[in-house]
Amino acid sequence: MKIFIDTANIDHIKEIKSWGILDGVTTNPSLIAKEGKDFKTVVAEIAEIVDGPISAEAVSMDAESMVREGLELSQIHPNINIKLPICVDGLKATRILYEEGIDVNMTLIFSPQQALLAAKAGARYVSPFVGRLDDIGHVGMDVVADIMNIFDNYDFDTEVIAASIRHPLHVAQAAAIGVDIATIPYDVLKKMVSHPKTDEGIDKFLADWGKIKKH
Ligand code: E4P
Repeated sequence: MKIFIDTANIDHIKEIKSWGILDGVTTNPSLIAKEGKDFKTVVAEIAEIVDGPISAEAVSMDAESMVREGLELSQIHPNINIKLPICVDGLKATRILYEEGIDVNMTLIFSPQQALLAAKAGARYVSPFVGRLDDIGHVGMDVVADIMNIFDNYDFDTEVIAASIRHPLHVAQAAAIGVDIATIPYDVLKKMVSHPKTDEGIDKFLADWGKIKKH
Protein backbone atom coordinates (compact mmCIF):
# COMPACT_ATOMS: atom_id res chain seq x y z
CA MET A 1 0.00 0.00 0.00
CA LYS A 2 1.30 3.44 -0.90
CA ILE A 3 1.25 6.03 1.85
CA PHE A 4 0.44 9.64 1.03
CA ILE A 5 0.31 12.40 3.59
CA ASP A 6 -2.86 14.50 3.64
CA THR A 7 -1.50 17.95 4.42
CA ALA A 8 -0.02 21.14 3.01
CA ASN A 9 2.29 21.63 6.00
CA ILE A 10 5.87 21.66 4.77
CA ASP A 11 7.46 20.73 8.11
CA HIS A 12 5.15 17.76 8.49
CA ILE A 13 5.88 16.61 4.93
CA LYS A 14 9.65 16.87 5.53
CA GLU A 15 9.35 14.96 8.81
CA ILE A 16 7.35 12.08 7.31
CA LYS A 17 9.63 11.98 4.26
CA SER A 18 12.55 11.48 6.65
CA TRP A 19 10.90 8.28 7.93
CA GLY A 20 11.42 6.75 4.47
CA ILE A 21 7.77 5.79 4.03
CA LEU A 22 6.28 8.63 1.99
CA ASP A 23 4.96 8.00 -1.53
CA GLY A 24 2.94 11.14 -2.24
CA VAL A 25 0.89 14.06 -0.96
CA THR A 26 -2.73 15.13 -1.16
CA THR A 27 -3.90 18.65 -0.43
CA ASN A 28 -7.28 20.33 -0.53
CA PRO A 29 -8.39 23.97 -0.22
CA SER A 30 -9.03 23.59 3.55
CA LEU A 31 -5.53 22.19 4.14
CA ILE A 32 -3.92 24.93 2.03
CA ALA A 33 -5.95 27.63 3.85
CA LYS A 34 -4.61 26.37 7.21
CA GLU A 35 -1.05 27.17 6.10
CA GLY A 36 -1.89 30.80 5.20
CA LYS A 37 0.39 30.78 2.14
CA ASP A 38 -0.09 31.25 -1.61
CA PHE A 39 -1.58 28.09 -3.16
CA LYS A 40 0.78 27.64 -6.11
CA THR A 41 3.84 28.46 -4.00
CA VAL A 42 2.93 25.75 -1.48
CA VAL A 43 2.30 23.17 -4.20
CA ALA A 44 5.63 24.00 -5.90
CA GLU A 45 7.42 23.73 -2.55
CA ILE A 46 5.86 20.31 -1.89
CA ALA A 47 6.88 19.13 -5.36
CA GLU A 48 10.50 20.08 -4.60
CA ILE A 49 10.44 17.92 -1.47
CA VAL A 50 8.47 14.82 -2.49
CA ASP A 51 9.27 12.68 -5.51
CA GLY A 52 5.78 11.24 -6.03
CA PRO A 53 2.23 12.19 -6.96
CA ILE A 54 0.95 15.45 -5.47
CA SER A 55 -2.74 16.35 -5.65
CA ALA A 56 -3.70 19.99 -6.13
CA GLU A 57 -7.41 20.77 -6.14
CA ALA A 58 -9.15 22.89 -8.77
CA VAL A 59 -11.95 25.06 -7.41
CA SER A 60 -13.87 25.95 -10.58
CA MET A 61 -17.34 24.52 -10.95
CA ASP A 62 -17.69 24.36 -14.76
CA ALA A 63 -15.82 21.92 -16.96
CA GLU A 64 -14.09 24.50 -19.14
CA SER A 65 -12.65 26.37 -16.14
CA MET A 66 -11.72 23.11 -14.38
CA VAL A 67 -9.70 22.14 -17.44
CA ARG A 68 -8.08 25.58 -17.60
CA GLU A 69 -7.18 25.39 -13.91
CA GLY A 70 -5.96 21.80 -14.30
CA LEU A 71 -3.70 22.75 -17.21
CA GLU A 72 -2.27 25.67 -15.20
CA LEU A 73 -1.65 23.60 -12.07
CA SER A 74 -0.07 20.78 -14.05
CA GLN A 75 2.53 23.26 -15.34
CA ILE A 76 3.91 23.67 -11.80
CA HIS A 77 5.55 20.21 -11.79
CA PRO A 78 5.17 16.95 -13.75
CA ASN A 79 4.17 15.11 -10.52
CA ILE A 80 1.08 17.25 -9.97
CA ASN A 81 -2.32 15.62 -10.45
CA ILE A 82 -5.55 17.56 -10.44
CA LYS A 83 -8.19 16.97 -7.81
CA LEU A 84 -11.68 17.47 -9.16
CA PRO A 85 -14.95 16.89 -7.28
CA ILE A 86 -17.28 14.21 -8.65
CA CYS A 87 -20.06 16.01 -10.54
CA VAL A 88 -21.14 16.20 -14.18
CA ASP A 89 -18.68 18.98 -14.99
CA GLY A 90 -15.98 17.16 -13.05
CA LEU A 91 -16.47 14.08 -15.23
CA LYS A 92 -16.37 16.13 -18.43
CA ALA A 93 -13.18 17.87 -17.31
CA THR A 94 -11.64 14.53 -16.26
CA ARG A 95 -12.11 13.11 -19.73
CA ILE A 96 -10.54 16.19 -21.36
CA LEU A 97 -7.58 16.22 -18.94
CA TYR A 98 -7.15 12.46 -19.41
CA GLU A 99 -6.90 13.02 -23.16
CA GLU A 100 -4.30 15.72 -22.49
CA GLY A 101 -2.29 13.19 -20.47
CA ILE A 102 -2.96 14.88 -17.13
CA ASP A 103 -3.81 12.74 -14.10
CA VAL A 104 -7.03 13.46 -12.20
CA ASN A 105 -7.77 12.51 -8.61
CA MET A 106 -11.58 12.48 -8.42
CA THR A 107 -12.43 13.58 -4.93
CA LEU A 108 -15.42 13.76 -2.58
CA ILE A 109 -16.40 10.22 -3.55
CA PHE A 110 -19.05 8.80 -1.23
CA SER A 111 -20.46 5.88 -3.24
CA PRO A 112 -19.27 3.03 -5.47
CA GLN A 113 -21.34 4.35 -8.38
CA GLN A 114 -19.57 7.71 -8.23
CA ALA A 115 -16.24 5.88 -8.30
CA LEU A 116 -17.36 3.80 -11.29
CA LEU A 117 -18.21 6.93 -13.27
CA ALA A 118 -14.91 8.57 -12.31
CA ALA A 119 -12.96 5.53 -13.52
CA LYS A 120 -14.93 5.40 -16.78
CA ALA A 121 -14.17 9.08 -17.40
CA GLY A 122 -10.44 8.37 -17.05
CA ALA A 123 -9.60 9.39 -13.47
CA ARG A 124 -6.16 8.14 -12.42
CA TYR A 125 -7.28 8.08 -8.76
CA VAL A 126 -10.56 8.10 -6.84
CA SER A 127 -10.73 9.33 -3.26
CA PRO A 128 -13.56 7.85 -1.17
CA PHE A 129 -13.92 9.78 2.11
CA VAL A 130 -14.02 7.13 4.83
CA GLY A 131 -14.22 9.34 7.94
CA ARG A 132 -16.93 11.61 6.61
CA LEU A 133 -19.08 8.54 5.81
CA ASP A 134 -18.50 7.14 9.29
CA ASP A 135 -19.56 10.56 10.64
CA ILE A 136 -23.05 10.12 9.17
CA GLY A 137 -23.53 6.53 10.26
CA HIS A 138 -22.26 4.65 7.21
CA VAL A 139 -19.30 2.29 7.25
CA GLY A 140 -16.90 4.24 5.07
CA MET A 141 -14.50 1.33 4.62
CA ASP A 142 -17.31 -0.81 3.13
CA VAL A 143 -17.62 1.74 0.33
CA VAL A 144 -13.87 1.52 -0.26
CA ALA A 145 -14.09 -2.30 -0.39
CA ASP A 146 -16.98 -2.14 -2.89
CA ILE A 147 -15.00 0.22 -5.10
CA MET A 148 -11.95 -2.07 -4.98
CA ASN A 149 -14.15 -4.98 -5.98
CA ILE A 150 -15.75 -3.11 -8.89
CA PHE A 151 -12.38 -1.92 -10.22
CA ASP A 152 -11.08 -5.47 -9.94
CA ASN A 153 -14.11 -6.89 -11.81
CA TYR A 154 -13.39 -4.70 -14.81
CA ASP A 155 -9.61 -4.30 -14.58
CA PHE A 156 -9.74 -0.55 -14.23
CA ASP A 157 -6.30 1.03 -13.87
CA THR A 158 -7.75 3.73 -11.59
CA GLU A 159 -6.16 3.58 -8.14
CA VAL A 160 -8.22 3.87 -4.98
CA ILE A 161 -7.08 6.35 -2.34
CA ALA A 162 -8.64 5.77 1.08
CA ALA A 163 -9.15 9.39 2.18
CA SER A 164 -10.60 11.17 5.19
CA ILE A 165 -8.64 8.79 7.41
CA ARG A 166 -9.23 9.62 11.07
CA HIS A 167 -7.30 7.04 13.10
CA PRO A 168 -4.77 4.19 12.82
CA LEU A 169 -7.50 1.55 12.65
CA HIS A 170 -8.72 3.09 9.38
CA VAL A 171 -5.23 2.58 7.96
CA ALA A 172 -5.06 -1.06 9.09
CA GLN A 173 -8.53 -1.73 7.65
CA ALA A 174 -7.59 -0.06 4.34
CA ALA A 175 -4.42 -2.16 4.10
CA ALA A 176 -6.34 -5.35 4.98
CA ILE A 177 -8.70 -4.87 2.03
CA GLY A 178 -5.75 -4.14 -0.26
CA VAL A 179 -6.43 -0.49 -1.02
CA ASP A 180 -3.86 1.00 -3.41
CA ILE A 181 -3.15 4.14 -1.38
CA ALA A 182 -4.11 5.66 1.96
CA THR A 183 -3.75 9.40 2.38
CA ILE A 184 -3.12 9.94 6.06
CA PRO A 185 -3.00 13.05 8.27
CA TYR A 186 0.25 13.77 10.14
CA ASP A 187 -1.19 13.08 13.61
CA VAL A 188 -2.50 9.68 12.51
CA LEU A 189 0.90 8.76 11.04
CA LYS A 190 2.50 9.63 14.38
CA LYS A 191 -0.05 7.49 16.24
CA MET A 192 0.64 4.55 13.91
CA VAL A 193 4.22 4.31 15.17
CA SER A 194 3.35 4.04 18.85
CA HIS A 195 2.23 1.18 21.02
CA PRO A 196 2.21 1.26 24.84
CA LYS A 197 3.77 -2.22 24.95
CA THR A 198 6.63 -0.96 22.75
CA ASP A 199 7.24 1.96 25.16
CA GLU A 200 7.07 -0.42 28.11
CA GLY A 201 9.49 -2.83 26.39
CA ILE A 202 12.01 -0.06 25.60
CA ASP A 203 11.87 1.20 29.21
CA LYS A 204 12.45 -2.30 30.56
CA PHE A 205 15.35 -3.06 28.20
CA LEU A 206 17.02 0.26 29.05
CA ALA A 207 16.52 -0.30 32.78
CA ASP A 208 18.00 -3.81 32.56
CA TRP A 209 20.85 -2.56 30.38
CA GLY A 210 21.70 -0.16 33.20
CA LYS A 211 22.11 -3.13 35.57
CA ILE A 212 24.68 -4.91 33.41
CA LYS A 213 28.36 -4.64 34.41
CA LYS A 214 30.34 -3.02 31.58
CA HIS A 215 34.14 -2.97 31.26
C1 E4P B 1 -8.64 13.80 0.58
O1 E4P B 1 -7.76 13.84 -0.25
C2 E4P B 1 -8.96 14.90 1.51
O2 E4P B 1 -7.92 15.84 1.49
C3 E4P B 1 -9.08 14.48 2.95
O3 E4P B 1 -8.70 13.14 3.13
C4 E4P B 1 -10.33 14.90 3.62
O4 E4P B 1 -10.30 14.47 4.95
P1 E4P B 1 -11.24 15.09 6.10
O5 E4P B 1 -12.59 14.47 5.99
O6 E4P B 1 -10.55 14.72 7.37
O7 E4P B 1 -11.27 16.58 5.87
